[in-house]
Amino acid sequence: MKPKIYITRKLPDIVVTRLTEVCEVNMWDKEEEPVPREILEKEIQDVDGLYCLLTESIDKPLLNLGTRLKVVSNMAVGYNNIDIAAATEKGILVTNTPGVLTETTADLTFALLMATARRLVEATDYLRAGDWKTWSPMQLTGQDIYGATLGIFGLGRIGEALAKRARGFDMKILYHNRSRKLEAEEQLDIQYADKERLLRESDFICVLMPFTHETKNYIGTAELSLMKQTAVLVNTARGGIVDEEALYHALKNREIWGAGIDVFEEEPVSTEHPLLSLPNVVALPHIGSASKNTRLKMSLLAAENLLQGLQGETPKNIVN
Ligand code: DGY
Repeated sequence: MKPKIYITRKLPDIVVTRLTEVCEVNMWDKEEEPVPREILEKEIQDVDGLYCLLTESIDKPLLNLGTRLKVVSNMAVGYNNIDIAAATEKGILVTNTPGVLTETTADLTFALLMATARRLVEATDYLRAGDWKTWSPMQLTGQDIYGATLGIFGLGRIGEALAKRARGFDMKILYHNRSRKLEAEEQLDIQYADKERLLRESDFICVLMPFTHETKNYIGTAELSLMKQTAVLVNTARGGIVDEEALYHALKNREIWGAGIDVFEEEPVSTEHPLLSLPNVVALPHIGSASKNTRLKMSLLAAENLLQGLQGETPKNIVN
């Protein structure tokens, strides 16, 4: 008998076809609307595998309903939406999709850094609004990127890929990580710095660490007050790592210069969110990995991880 799976969002046909070769598949068939919790609660009761996105909270009460559940495959590298301890306790394998999105997410992180530094969104809005009456010396001036100091919080795959891009801009690169990475220091010509030094000395600070209990509000009022007045903060990791209220005040009072934000504590973010009222914020709807190729690779990798787990193999990207 084929194992049964539930997919929480409409996936590209090629992925569904692959899964259907091995499994009996049931899928929430909408692309732009997450599966309602009550439907997920019902579906999970009858499946061996769950294919989910970061938009679903796979918490303990939900896992408890999955009496025959063996594998949860998350189509994302981050898995803070899943209660890993609860899954492990129940013997459920959890998998993610690292590697395939590294370069695409590093591209977006650098693009956001540049867009914020050079006020690209503000400049486009200015032009479209018909405000461009003349060229003037200090009009829409931003911060230089070439030769500036970049601080990276979290030197995982994406952090290293970002450092490679920054080297092309002759940036001095500092990083802070739970553990030092001596090989990367040598290969990428980057320096380890303690948290305070990184905050004080960087012109650009990119947040690329996982969201855990330890990293919740990792950047708050105290950290923002150490940053340069000309500094730009970029977050393409997870919303909860930066305290949004503290960030709002630091930006509004011009204690730091700007912020590029791809991720929010609550997503989708409300259009009434105070951060969106500030001209020195470039805000994006969580598109770090959003290239066609990469999203396809992520969805196929999540499928393979699920199939491996259901077929009794150790999935390639197991997190527990
Ligand atoms: C992830 O994979 O964790 C990103 O946030 C979405 O690609």
